[in-house]
Amino acid sequence: MSRIAVVPGSFDPVTLGHLDVIERAAGLFDEIHVLVVHNPDKSALLPIAQRVSLIEQAIADARIPGKVIVTSWSVGLLVDYCTDVGASVLVKGIRSQVDVAYETPMAIVNRNLAGVETVFLLPDPAHAHVSSSLVRQVSSLGGDVSPYVPRVVADFLQAPAGV
Ligand code: PNS
Repeated sequence: MSRIAVVPGSFDPVTLGHLDVIERAAGLFDEIHVLVVHNPDKSALLPIAQRVSLIEQAIADARIPGKVIVTSWSVGLLVDYCTDVGASVLVKGIRSQVDVAYETPMAIVNRNLAGVETVFLLPDPAHAHVSSSLVRQVSSLGGDVSPYVPRVVADFLQAPAGV
């Protein structure tokens, strides 16, 4: 039986920290679903379809091995998606105590709702300070985001508007 895991997030945009977690999750499971989920608590930079496309390109560029599916989910609970695709595990990256406090209640609720376990991966220290919100802020103020995101994302964010 295949071990399927879902790596959910806003990915607005995908960062090098996300890519590190995706690559390591792909090494731990037979099949990974990178799931772009709208987070109503955050104001969005990119449309969902654009985020999916950038993740797909970043995964291809990084030549991440294994079966990795990138898609989005906008209706119902995250665990409903997990049940639909036969995934029993969620994988999340944890950078700090703030992330632990944010993720712990969700992990408990997701296990209570559908028996879906959450596996937390610690970041590569090189990416521990990187977040999508930081990237959105630096980008919106005209700064260089290339140290924090895959090349395809930096090129997209730094392209002149309309290109
Ligand atoms: O990258 P983010 O913004 O930290 O990702 C948060 C996300 C999308 C994973 C989180 O908001 C989430 O799990 N949303 C799904 C909604 C849901 O199922 N809620 C009930 C159980 S916690």
